Amino acid sequence: ASSNLLCGKKALVTAGGTQEPLDPVRYLGNRSSGRMGYAVAQALQEAGADTILVSAPSELPVPSGVQRISVMTAEEMRRAVLEYFPDVDIVVKSAAVADYRPKEMAAQKIKKKGTSLFVELVPNPDILAELGKMKTKQVLIGFAAETENLLANAQEKMLRKNVDMLVANDVTQAGSGFGSLTNCVSFLFPDGRRIDLPQMNKLEVARHLRDEIVELLGGTKE
Ligand code: C5P
Repeated sequence: ASSNLLCGKKALVTAGGTQEPLDPVRYLGNRSSGRMGYAVAQALQEAGADTILVSAPSELPVPSGVQRISVMTAEEMRRAVLEYFPDVDIVVKSAAVADYRPKEMAAQKIKKKGTSLFVELVPNPDILAELGKMKTKQVLIGFAAETENLLANAQEKMLRKNVDMLVANDVTQAGSGFGSLTNCVSFLFPDGRRIDLPQMNKLEVARHLRDEIVELLGGTKE
């Protein structure tokens, strides 16, 4: 239906779960499949947006017409995102970015000892919060995957990170969240509006999200 509503617009989508190296063969990661973000990239591209997908490791094929930039760590994702950010109209941050990374990566494979192993973790930069401070013309959209107090936590993130829309994602429900083909989300807006979508497959969620983006862009004056 909305085959060309985003013609002439540039979009940046992040997807997948970052991997933070511990040693040459191990990393700290998470269960993100990348599926939600890849679907968002596809939905934006379908509507005519010129779409760049900054992706942490994922098994998924690149949606046709989308340009993928592959990254591994949060720091690499940050660098790629900051490079493209000034030039885009739409940013959807659906990646599951590691909040912490090992302070140091061991140069050699860590050896097994009979005792506890302590790894110091340091905080990663919050890319979305940084974009929220920098944004000029961009419509900025964040995700919040929560296991408790979904709407309250999502509301707090929306305001703190200065996004134009936040997708609250209940990752405890069956058929929702990490690795699932379907998702159960609500859209939250800074003006207090909220849209609760029923469970549906991730491409359908992405198309609803895309339609909200079209509305948000229609309302912004350049
Ligand atoms: O605070 P939390 O990690 O739940 O926020 C989730 C949102 O923030 C997602 O849109 C995610 O992509 C983004 N994020 C980020 N950089 C981080 C952590 C999260 O961009 N270091």
